[in-house]
Amino acid sequence: MKKVLFKNILPLLGLLLIISTSSLAQSVVSVQVQAANANTTISKHIYGHFSEHLGRCIYDGFWVKENAQVPKQDRIRLDIVEALKKIQIPNLRWPGGCFADEYHWRDGIGIRSQRPKMINTNWGNVTEDNSFGTHEFLELCTLLNCEPYITGNVGSGTVEEMSKWVEYLNFDGLSPMTVIRKQNGREKPWNVHFWGVGNESWGCGGNMTADFYADQYKRYAGFTKNYPGASLKRIASGANTDDYNWTETMMKKVGPWMMWGLTLHYYTVPKTWGDKGSATSFDESEYFTTMKKTLFMEELVTKHSTIMDQYDPEKKVALVVDEWGIWTNVEPGTNPGFLFQQNSLRDALIAGTNLNIFNNHADRVKMANLAQTVNVLQSIILTEGDKMVLTPTYHVFDLFKVHQEAKLLPVQFVSPDYVNGKEKIPALNISASKDSNGVVHITLVNLDPNKSINLRTALQTINWSKVEGLVLSSSKITDINSFENPDFVKPVIFNGAKKEAGDLVVNLPAKSIVQLTLK
Ligand code: AHR
Repeated sequence: MKKVLFKNILPLLGLLLIISTSSLAQSVVSVQVQAANANTTISKHIYGHFSEHLGRCIYDGFWVKENAQVPKQDRIRLDIVEALKKIQIPNLRWPGGCFADEYHWRDGIGIRSQRPKMINTNWGNVTEDNSFGTHEFLELCTLLNCEPYITGNVGSGTVEEMSKWVEYLNFDGLSPMTVIRKQNGREKPWNVHFWGVGNESWGCGGNMTADFYADQYKRYAGFTKNYPGASLKRIASGANTDDYNWTETMMKKVGPWMMWGLTLHYYTVPKTWGDKGSATSFDESEYFTTMKKTLFMEELVTKHSTIMDQYDPEKKVALVVDEWGIWTNVEPGTNPGFLFQQNSLRDALIAGTNLNIFNNHADRVKMANLAQTVNVLQSIILTEGDKMVLTPTYHVFDLFKVHQEAKLLPVQFVSPDYVNGKEKIPALNISASKDSNGVVHITLVNLDPNKSINLRTALQTINWSKVEGLVLSSSKITDINSFENPDFVKPVIFNGAKKEAGDLVVNLPAKSIVQLTLK
């Protein structure tokens, strides 16, 4: 009996040994950072934002009432401006979204009290008083020290209307539009560069086919002129999610000659469009699905880029992901048309993952805009009266700003799995860059809410003696910053990275975003 038992135990012991060595081997992820191949610049415009006339983004967000008890210039809320300057906001997209294709810019200039009112049919049928128009938006961009990205109206506007808007904005000489601009108090042109030709032209922007839009695009783009000092970077309305035919048609029919960029819109919807799921109350299985859907961005960017490569191997046309982020149900009791949602640690992990994806595709992705800056969808700022909260997503932009205009360092590794039931996704995503001072920054995201990740990287060609870090995490993936507790989720000093035998060794906590600086 004894002998048989022993005989049976031996293979078992062997198996145990194999399992334990393989799990040991798996538990340290080997990361290669290619410091020698730093040819691609991570455009700062990947860190752009989006502000639509929707809910409380512009009105009661950026633009407050005359008697509001907040610091303001004219009616622009200055605490928001300061917060956005801190994260070095590079550009702001406006006025929509769906709103852009029913916006008539001439209603938003001149004496405010005399501006016509309109119905915002897309977003709750509220009355739009046009008090925030061209001059106000460009004043906001001046205060933010960021570039304006204006989207013109293709869906319900005319070629003439769009052409005249550009003349009003960018021409310095004597012309019908510049006379009006000067009467309205602005002598010099603003020299706006980023110019969207319609929005979601496959949907709320006119329900067009790709073929029809491509032809329309050429008409509108052709009559928006480059004036001295203001050559336009025209951005075509691109694909919804995985509509690869749209990208193919645009690249085939238009190409680089008058298209600086082609957009892609993709939102992470935790459940379904009918019931999107709550922003604050979800279990791990819903969290897992949300992260799986977030990682779909990698496939989308890769496949759209591959199509673009066929027509534009020199990568002259930018892929512009000018709407991305999580879209949940609105907060209970709020106007369903206003898209006001809270923002949790889950949102921060989504933001970090998307930004790592965009960085790693910086050869093609030259601009991206999170939807939307204040009080709408995946906001970085929430307001309530005079109170203001910086969301966990805001802090991710703060941590990642080090990558703006830095050289991308390609990173290779095999990610450990984050397993949920029978499904698994890569737990780890990373991007790295070297800034103009030669300082290397690495941003790492661990999506696994239960397990930390150990990783080791040799970094042979990088000169560094010490590592400093910041980490954003919290005890629960549902944790938020509320008006009562605005600093609940915020970055703190990270002590989990060190130099060991010349290697960078990191213990990345579960559900965390880490930014490392090698000095
Ligand atoms: O960001 C909200 C809406 O989502 C935008 O107006 C539209 O472009 C998209 O469908």
